[in-house]
Amino acid sequence: MSKVRFTETIFRDAHQSLMATRMKTDEMLPIAEKLDNVGYHSLEVWGGATFDASLRFLNEDPWERLRKLRRTIKNTKLQMLLRGQNLLGYKNYPDDVVEEFVKKAIYNGIDIIRIFDALNDTRNLKTALKTTKEAGGHAQTAISFTTSPVHNTDYYLKLAKEMEEMGSDSICIKDMSGILLPYNAYTLIKKLKETINIPIQLHSHFTSGIANQTYMKAIEAGVDIIDTALSPLGNGTSQPATEPMVAALEGSGREPEFDLNKLNEIAEYFAKIRDKYQNEGILKDKVLRVEPKTLIYQVPGGMLSNLVSQLEQQGSIDKFQEVLEEVPRVREDLGYPPLVTPMSQMVGTQSVFNVILGERYKMVPSEIKNYVKGLYGKSTVEIKDNIKEKIIEDEKVYTGRPADLLEPQLANYRDEIREYIEQEEDILSYALFPQVALRYFQYRQAQRYNIDNDLLNKEDKTYPV
Ligand code: CO
Repeated sequence: MSKVRFTETIFRDAHQSLMATRMKTDEMLPIAEKLDNVGYHSLEVWGGATFDASLRFLNEDPWERLRKLRRTIKNTKLQMLLRGQNLLGYKNYPDDVVEEFVKKAIYNGIDIIRIFDALNDTRNLKTALKTTKEAGGHAQTAISFTTSPVHNTDYYLKLAKEMEEMGSDSICIKDMSGILLPYNAYTLIKKLKETINIPIQLHSHFTSGIANQTYMKAIEAGVDIIDTALSPLGNGTSQPATEPMVAALEGSGREPEFDLNKLNEIAEYFAKIRDKYQNEGILKDKVLRVEPKTLIYQVPGGMLSNLVSQLEQQGSIDKFQEVLEEVPRVREDLGYPPLVTPMSQMVGTQSVFNVILGERYKMVPSEIKNYVKGLYGKSTVEIKDNIKEKIIEDEKVYTGRPADLLEPQLANYRDEIREYIEQEEDILSYALFPQVALRYFQYRQAQRYNIDNDLLNKEDKTYPV
């Protein structure tokens, strides 16, 4: 079997998971060349929450970050995470915006785009996948991994086959909650290898304390690529740490030809950055712990803490256990959506409402109504009529591809910010995060013309971290 390939996540998921996505471009560039020379399969450097966080907290242009990294990292492939038709935002965008975004990401330096949909509705992956390939990029589609009576091996095999037939260059099993267990991973990967011919990558989080065992069994089953993060920002709610994973493979015949001393040298650089953010209180001790409760309730770690704070705000923390038991029931009612953004927040809120109001679906957030109406895509299992009726009464359910309902928008966005445009990419920043991008453009202009502006040091604190 071939060597295990590694994707290093320290410039994206690792600092997103552990330190609120706050790593700055200036902290990345000095070490980028060394990372480039390790021999990684790819470096995940962009997408996810990094785009929003650059504009919102760091007064940085994410496009400029990408170009700077591309200029420094000459050998290793650069990778990003994209939420299908939602891009990096929280709603569906029309196809013209998705196409332009993907083209510009590749033009500015991205090689591999990992595309996923919270509902695993492949219609939401189509436009991004097609455009990535047309623009010369590597299109990796990701399966949002979850467990339920219907999310069994056959379900994942069928989905992976469909993704291969759609033209995916590789697939990723995206275990965002860290709940994929070692022996289940073994069976799943083994069968996937018999079913599809494209490379298989595994992405997990150490949250529940199991992910490195899962990686080992996945490697035994023949997984091609794994996601890890260098030790200073590895483990905890981040990916399993890179160096121990590399060392653990010695003697397997699949170990990569990495120089552990070189990795150690790079790790020392990041240890200083970690310490700095830990001292500032941005990296909290809590995210470094292991949370096995995730395995019992099958609820992602972030969702657990959100439920606690929602209940605390309402003075109903005594209802925590009841809410935890309500979550799987709501999830079943809604056709077993994977608990990933935005479904995790939606299912959590509905569960809190159901318990606190003492009557199920007495109050329903509009997002849940839209989901039941089909506006996010297709649920894994069809929602039962009596639940539908409770939530949307006799309103019609849309069964088409959600983005087909949307008119082209790019020209409108361009008109709205005409006076600020310095690069075509600005239109996309604005399309994704209108207020945040506008504030950044004003800051940029003020800085350029030396205008004294109180925006210079302003941080928008409204963002839920
Ligand atoms: Co992740």
